[in-house]
Amino acid sequence: MPLSAPHESVEIQLGDRSYPILIGSGLLGDPGSFAALPAATTALIVTNTTVAPLYAQTLRAALANRFRAVHVLELPDGEAYKEWQTLNLVFDALLGHGCDRKTVLFALGGGVVGDMTGFAAASYMRGVPFVQVPTTLLAQVDSSVGGKTAINHPLGKNMIGAFYQPRLVLCDLSTLATLPPRELSAGLAEVIKYGPIHDMAFLDWIEANIDAMVARDPAALAHAVKRSCEIKAEVVGQDERETGLRAILNFGHTFGHAIESGLGYGEWLHGEAVGCGMVMAAQLSQRLGGVDEAFVQRLTALIRRAGLPVVGPALGAERYLELMRVDKKSEAGEIRFVVIDKPGSAVMRGAPDAMVREVLAQCCAKS
Ligand code: NAD
Ligand code: GLY
Repeated sequence: MPLSAPHESVEIQLGDRSYPILIGSGLLGDPGSFAALPAATTALIVTNTTVAPLYAQTLRAALANRFRAVHVLELPDGEAYKEWQTLNLVFDALLGHGCDRKTVLFALGGGVVGDMTGFAAASYMRGVPFVQVPTTLLAQVDSSVGGKTAINHPLGKNMIGAFYQPRLVLCDLSTLATLPPRELSAGLAEVIKYGPIHDMAFLDWIEANIDAMVARDPAALAHAVKRSCEIKAEVVGQDERETGLRAILNFGHTFGHAIESGLGYGEWLHGEAVGCGMVMAAQLSQRLGGVDEAFVQRLTALIRRAGLPVVGPALGAERYLELMRVDKKSEAGEIRFVVIDKPGSAVMRGAPDAMVREVLAQCCAKS
């Protein structure tokens, strides 16, 4: 049955691991969305206690003709559950239902569900197919695309994981209607990110449309998701395993991950930490000569208009530095930051601790 709902498509080009990102409203309830998936008898929808009542039955009904059995697993909701014991619930369900190596996993939810389900798919029987059905803006513009899967460790964010690509990403824009405003803002952080690192024309567009996106204008959100996915596809297509270029997608994340793990996972949302982290990374970029004060002010104002915090929590400079040394980009204990070397272009590089302390002093609340 072909897909009948109107949609756009962006292709991730990775040879025999290529896959489409379908973007449109009403896609998760349309059986045609799944027409190109490999044949299998069993599907497991992994979701959480918040998303399940909203969308699990719709997805289950859409899959009913294709799979003999469609099981649903509801995980507890929250970044604090992105860890081993919750991941193990997915393996418990797979083994408990007697799922074979053709079983298709469906990640229905935000980035937490997507990252955990992807990691489960990467490791169950050494790899089973999975589909991303992202229901947050953040997951639609970033986390569902590109095959990074992971769980957190108490000593560091996303430290245990694998690169493992989904077979399909289904961005159903209608799910954004139920997203709490704070979560929408968190997603806007990852949309904004693509401007300074890659596409200044997109940054202009975001500035002109930020209020429309905050008000959930469907056309504005549709364009934001599509353009973000195009940029991510371009970057991931060139550097799937982050040997170089892909690191630019982590703009703001070194500071942001320190905020998240320093406060305890879930205190600040990932997107909030990234938004504030981009302010800090922009300040660092200015000190390193890549951008001027006007650029930093422009980006900071946009992040604020998206409803995101622009002042970091008072963790103390030494604690920030300690946390940032655990970042995956660190090499031999040296923290490496994604900085803007000129508007629309980013590079990864180290910076003197003294300079980082100045940035933290300028950007963080006083304790
Ligand atoms: P999330 O998964 O915690 O979802 C946010 C909240 O919204 C949750 O409470 C969730 O239950 C709820 N929710 C989801 N969809 C909803 C809907 N349609 N209506 C109502 N509520 C809904 O958070 P997130 O911001 O989606 O993702 C953050 C995670 O993604 C972090 O763990 C981060 O590390 C990860 N991430 C991964 C990548 C990657 O490349 N793999 C990239 C960026 C972020
Ligand atoms: N969100 C960063 C990446 O996918 O590489």
